[in-house]
Amino acid sequence: MIRLIISLLTMLCLGSVLAADSHGPAMQPAKVDLSDELSLQRGARVFVNYCVSCHSASFMRYNRVAEDLGLSEESVKTNLMFTSDKIGDVMRVAMLPSEAEAWFGVPPPDLSVVARSRGPDWLYNFLLGYYIDESKPTGVNNLFFKDTAMPHVLWEQQGLQRAVYRAEDNGGGENATIMRLELAQRGRLTENEYKRLVRDLVGFLVYVGEPAKLVRHRIGFWVIVFLLILLVSAYLMKREYWKDVH
Ligand code: HEC
Repeated sequence: MIRLIISLLTMLCLGSVLAADSHGPAMQPAKVDLSDELSLQRGARVFVNYCVSCHSASFMRYNRVAEDLGLSEESVKTNLMFTSDKIGDVMRVAMLPSEAEAWFGVPPPDLSVVARSRGPDWLYNFLLGYYIDESKPTGVNNLFFKDTAMPHVLWEQQGLQRAVYRAEDNGGGENATIMRLELAQRGRLTENEYKRLVRDLVGFLVYVGEPAKLVRHRIGFWVIVFLLILLVSAYLMKREYWKDVH
């Protein structure tokens, strides 16, 4: 048994060492909190301000957002609805898909389930991972989505980062390894404020990908509370019954 535990622990340690050895900076955890309603509301706001000009979330309706995130329909209409005027509408894109394709070469995909296909951590790191690359039409490249056609739409908030290459790579080149990114031009937000904005946005995308999660988390909490109460009463009852036997 002990040997099994030791070999499992060794494998775990080895795994993390190997993972850390891969190229470039490691991904940071997104740490989204779906029980934080204010964070999801802020995320929704960022999404409609900066993303629906190109992307849709066509599985999600505005009235559902209102209901799930504790917002009134009035407030959703004035603060979140820019691409349609009916509260029952889905989160449609502002641009025509054919236009978008002509501009970017690829149509911006629908983001309804992107948090499930890519995962929250990837989304978080993708939105933090833009850096200056003059050889690209958008002027930027991305650590986690190489040569992406998507411009850095949040650059005013984050500022612009530049890549710091491994010493042997003499400051760049096609196969140079990027060690980290550093701020080249400050944005409107500090690093931590920007990370919070991205975390809010990713949280909103996770919610959009699976709205039932919110309900499940709430129910889950009460189920655990119920089970704990049951545990205590079952224990007391057991003591009561066995008292006479001993
Ligand atoms: C100016 C148009 C534009 C805006 C605004 C925009 N995107 Fe994009 N986005 C694109 C394009 C184009 C692609 C496709 C990139 C590619 O395939 O290289 C893309 C791809 C993506 C992807 C990758 C999807 C996948 O699985 O391949 C994600 C995630 C994404 N965008 C998120 C966002 C978020 C979040 C916002 C809002 C902060 C946003 N985008 C705003 C144009 C845009």
